[in-house]
Amino acid sequence: MSEDPATGRFIVFEGPEGAGKSTQIARLAARLRAGGHDPLVTREPGGTPAGDRIRGVLLDPDLRVDAATEFLLYAAARAQHVSEVIGPALADGRVVLSDRFAAASVAYQGYGRGLDLDWIHDVNARVTAGLRPDLVVLLDLEPSVGLTRVAARGRPDRLEVAELAFHLRVRDGFTALASAEPDRWRVFDAGEPAATLESRVWRAVAPVLGMRP
Ligand SMILES: Nc1ncnc2c1ncn2[C@@H]1O[C@H](COP(=O)(O)OP(=O)(O)OP(=O)(O)O)[C@@H](O)[C@H]1O
Ligand SMILES: [Mg+2]
Repeated sequence: MSEDPATGRFIVFEGPEGAGKSTQIARLAARLRAGGHDPLVTREPGGTPAGDRIRGVLLDPDLRVDAATEFLLYAAARAQHVSEVIGPALADGRVVLSDRFAAASVAYQGYGRGLDLDWIHDVNARVTAGLRPDLVVLLDLEPSVGLTRVAARGRPDRLEVAELAFHLRVRDGFTALASAEPDRWRVFDAGEPAATLESRVWRAVAPVLGMRP
């Protein structure tokens, strides 16, 4: 949590495939820009040139990537993302909006793939240098609904093709994280229309940014 008022604010969007993370980040960023702000919009895995190459490995449906490999690649991309992009932007006082962050590894590689949760939390803490989001917006959605939404997009990526049971465990993981830290997380019903969600998300985000909803 960036307590120092001189530093920026870090807002993370999490949720299953097709929940509307990209849609809501774009809407929030547009709203902030209209208000004269200059948010940094970024995403995981990726957000840096090295991270984008790692992203290519992680999402390629033709590659075999074991669970531990998958987690460590996410962690590697995350380390680069924090040091090269997120950290400097926050130090400059900017609002950073990230499409996924550390919690996604807890949900996907921990709850979803079954890796040890303590190990994931420990590696996350190290690669992020302890950086935590000021707010996590969880767009919660029945996985089958989200997967149907993204199916229209064409060839599914390596995570989208995982079995439904995997995606159900991921959802449970996100829900558990949100319940454990209700001050940092806000949960939204991502089955609502995008415009409705946008208003609800704004009412949660604005106070964190010191703005009026
Ligand atoms: N609230 C909504 N209701 C119905 N459809 C939506 C809603 N929000 C987004 N969509 C549609 O669902 C699809 C997925 O949305 P989007 O890409 O924003 O989700 P995402 O969470 O970023 O997905 P991914 O996990 O694949 O990155 C898009 O076609 C988008 O237009
Ligand atoms: Mg997206």
